[in-house]
Parts: sequence; C-alpha cells; structure tokens
Amino acid sequence: MHRIAVIAGDGTGPEVVREGLKVVKAASKKFSIPLSFTEFDYGGARYLRTGETLPDGAVEELRSFSAIYLGAIGHPEVKPGILETGILLRLRFELDQYINLRPVKLYPNVETPLANKKPEDIDFVIVRENVEGLYIGAGGFLKKGTADEVAIQEMVYTRKSVERCVRYAFDLARKRGKMKKLTLCGKTNVLTFCQDLWWRTFQEVAKEYPDITADYAHVDATTMWMVKNPEWFDVIVTENMFGDIITDLGAMVQGGMGVAAGGNINPAGVSMFEPIGGSAPKYTGQNVINPVASILAGAMMLEQLGHPQAAAAVERSVVSVIGRMKSMAAGKMGFSTSEIGDMVAAGL
Ligand code: IPM
Ligand code: MN
Repeated sequence: MHRIAVIAGDGTGPEVVREGLKVVKAASKKFSIPLSFTEFDYGGARYLRTGETLPDGAVEELRSFSAIYLGAIGHPEVKPGILETGILLRLRFELDQYINLRPVKLYPNVETPLANKKPEDIDFVIVRENVEGLYIGAGGFLKKGTADEVAIQEMVYTRKSVERCVRYAFDLARKRGKMKKLTLCGKTNVLTFCQDLWWRTFQEVAKEYPDITADYAHVDATTMWMVKNPEWFDVIVTENMFGDIITDLGAMVQGGMGVAAGGNINPAGVSMFEPIGGSAPKYTGQNVINPVASILAGAMMLEQLGHPQAAAAVERSVVSVIGRMKSMAAGKMGFSTSEIGDMVAAGL
C-alpha cells in the first residue's frame, strides 16, 4: 500500500489537487495500485490561524509516507518568504529531496511562444539541485539599516550533493535513451569555486558514462539556446538557483504554468510532487484554473512509486484531452477545471 500525504495548500491548490487525485485514483483502480490518502492542512490559511507553518512533528510524520502530493503554497496576506521557507523549502531540505526534476515537453495542440517550434523540438528534462547552493540561507547582515550596511548571501556546495545530483542526471540521460546527452548548465567563468566543483565532479562522473555525451553551457547561454534551439537539449543538470530560473523559462517554452509539473525527489526516501506554478489567488474558487500540471505531477508520482505503465497511461489521456482544449490559460480552456479532471479520468 502506498500512503500518499496530500497537502492541497493555498489559492487554487485545492482545486488542482482535487482533479489530480481524481485521475490518480482512476489510475490506481485501472492498474490495481493500492493507494491511501491522508490530507494535511499546511499552508497560508493555517499559518494565519495558528502562527505555525509546519507544526512540531510534522516532518517526522511525513517521513512515514510513500510520497507527498502538493498543490500550492503562497497566500497574499502572508509576508513573502515565511511559507516558502517554513513549508516548501523545509520539506525539500529535511526530507533530503535533493533532485528537482522538471520535464519541459511541448504537447501537441499546446501553444508555445517560440516561433516555428514543434513538439519534436521541445522535449527535455531539467535536473535542478534542490537542497544546497544559495538556498541554504547562509549569510547575514553587518550594520543593517545604516549607510554602511553589508549583506552577504553565500553559495554553498558539497562534493557529495553535487556528485549525487550529477549521477542522477547521467542515469536519467541513459534511461531516456533519447539523444544520450547531458548538458551541465553552469557559470565556470565567474563562479570559480562552486562551479569549479561542479565542473570537476561532472568530468569525473562522465567517465563512468562513456555512452552519454557530456556537454556544457554557461547559464546565460543556456537561456539563449532554450529559446533559439531547444531541440539541442536532452537532459540539463544545474545548481539550485540557476535551475529555479531556467525552469520557469522552460515552463513558458512548454506552454505555461498550466502544464508544467515537477518532482522534488529523494530516490531513497519520500518525494514530493507539485505543479510548478503558484497559488494563483485571483483565480481561486472559480473552477477555471488549468489542472493539467497537477495531473502530470500525479503521473510523475505514479512513476516514482514504481508504476511507469500507469504514469504513461495518465500522460496519454492528458495528451488526448489537451487535443480538445482551446488554450492552456486559466479561464480560456474551453472547459472548467473539474471537467478536465473528469475527461482525463474517463480517458483512462
Ligand atoms: C520553485 C519556487 C520556489 C523556489 C519558491 C516558492 C521558494 O519558485 O519551486 O521553483 O524558489 O524553489
Ligand atoms: Mn521557481
């Protein structure tokens, strides 16, 4: 029995999670995958009520689950940073979800802002390091609030984390078997300490994967190629902050936040799956938000739990429903949020 912890969260999170669960449950029935679901009310509303982001013992409790299925965290009445660090980043760190896996795939009938690019041109995966770098919160202020103020934010990487991330990406390039190419996205010309560690580790691990082409691009150039020649990419591996930025670009290239899903993965532990868009407060409660990203996050969860056939079936059903949608944008889809969930579930 796979035990799924469900954190629907804020804004449109509960609406998209409802549709994702509808589809995951339909897949579990069709493929006889025993699943159970336990809901947690973590998010902005609970924080405003209780002053707590994650209560004592929450992380330990979540550790006992097979996976976490997340909607969105972010509330307009809560100061930026509190929920992000208190819930999302804390779970990534404490559950050691060291990979942030973000496929960039243009499905047929989805509009991309890139001129003349077709589904066969846009199909790659970004492997973002997810627990170190600028995100660890190292640094501080000196003379805060004065004219002489100093602010320091440090990028920290360990050999262990870089190596496991790079290795995961090489394995993925091999498993995909598409172009058999892994691009390290870095900035070796400026970040001469951390990126030197990434570069050396990448070169060393590459020796174990002679069947995979080890490619390199600076992060600024990567953003150019993602727009101009996305067909050059197969798997990209990159550090945390670069990955944060280029995966938003990736989401746009694949047709918007409505279709972009991601997994925060601990291959030996509890992984967490989410649509990568935010809580979209202005669409909350209207049944107009696009649940496709959340449904695809559900498919990634099924895959990670060891059910690739179920995951592929969900993806196929999504593709067929996308073929009938007018747009990926909220309110313009030609269907409501719940109709899309119904159609994908029925398609299974
Ligand atoms: C993401 C988000 C988060 C991040 C924020 C909400 C902390 O932008 O998942 O990409 O920066 O990682
Ligand atoms: Mn981001």
